Amino acid sequence: MSDSWDDYAEDWDSNAGAIEYSQKAFDSLCEFINLEGLRVLDFGCGTGLLTEKVARVASSVVAVDPSPKMIDVLEHKNIHNVNSLACEISVDLITSQPIFEPRFDLIVASSVCAFLPDYEQTLSTLKLLLKDGGTFIQWDWKRSNEEDDFGFTKEIITNAYAHVGLSLVRVSDAFSLTSEKGEAHVLMGVANNA
Ligand SMILES: C[S@@+](CC[C@H](N)C(=O)[O-])C[C@H]1O[C@@H](n2cnc3c(N)ncnc32)[C@H](O)[C@@H]1O
Repeated sequence: MSDSWDDYAEDWDSNAGAIEYSQKAFDSLCEFINLEGLRVLDFGCGTGLLTEKVARVASSVVAVDPSPKMIDVLEHKNIHNVNSLACEISVDLITSQPIFEPRFDLIVASSVCAFLPDYEQTLSTLKLLLKDGGTFIQWDWKRSNEEDDFGFTKEIITNAYAHVGLSLVRVSDAFSLTSEKGEAHVLMGVANNA
């Protein structure tokens, strides 16, 4: 696997696994929350597979990703209520970029958090972007066994929310994907900025 997400940008929208993941994430999102009228941040949006679905219902979406090539693919989709930015999120950035004002009703992070160098620090920064009472939702691969060091357990997610002061709503088994490597499960974590 390449170290650079830029290398995946061109083919991401024809990746069957990525398409199925984003559709199932969107379905589980809509079961949980009514998107109508919401201002949404899609954190780690990639080429916007989830962004474009959310934007059809929500009021507006800000989509951010550190990969300029992923963002370039999204921008070519010309979605009228989506603003995007290629950036690494930080406190300095969010306080200097007008795109992050006003704060968000909902932040979604689909298959992103497991790739972060510091999950809890990023959660703290994202919390600053949520309105009071706003909702944070993530989907991530579930660790398949105790030796597995990629992905999350329910405990890791629950503890992280507690450490950064997000109020746990639930962490659940959201869906699974089947490939030639077998079946892999996805956790959905939901927290409020209470
Ligand atoms: C598996 S892809 C998922 C993309 C998109 N969310 C989707 O559903 O198709 C992981 C994404 O996380 C992004 N990413 C990696 N490190 C990140 C970071 N530090 N902050 C935000 N996004 C990051 C990558 O650039 C990539 O677009």
